[in-house]
Amino acid sequence: MSQVALNVNGIQQKIDSPTDTPLLWVLRDELNLTGTKFGCGASLCGACTVLIDGVASRSCQRPVSSLSGQPIQTIEGLDGKEANAIRAAWRELNVVQCGWCQSGQIVAATALLTKSPAPSDLQIDQAMSGNLCRCGTYSRIKKAIHMAAQTLKSLGQ
Ligand code: FES
Ligand code: FES
Repeated sequence: MSQVALNVNGIQQKIDSPTDTPLLWVLRDELNLTGTKFGCGASLCGACTVLIDGVASRSCQRPVSSLSGQPIQTIEGLDGKEANAIRAAWRELNVVQCGWCQSGQIVAATALLTKSPAPSDLQIDQAMSGNLCRCGTYSRIKKAIHMAAQTLKSLGQ
């Protein structure tokens, strides 16, 4: 049995899964945090994106043994002004289609705005390029990130 303890969404969790289990499986199967999705399982699609120490990271390729003591945020625990602005813009522009990729998209967009509150198109393309959407919502995602940036600006960011 693993002795790993994870800090997930501000809560310390003792993990029973083997230490080489990827974080995604622990989140979904052990902690019942199913907002983070499985897409490819090979670090290629971004569906499993979470924040690790504030950095957008693929959870399908990170063994839990490498994450002890590092704060992890999933879509369920994403908070703060950037996340709120992103969520509001996503709703306003009806970004979501099937939804499968969207928690990863929202986590990655929140990480981008936290680092760059007024990103250019190029910065958005670079930050979001690893998050694939088979429904092709890319143009709405870009518009929503710009809208969220405007919201942050109006809040005095
Ligand atoms: S499921 Fe992790 S990158 Fe695709
Ligand atoms: S909304 Fe369907 S995969 Fe992105």
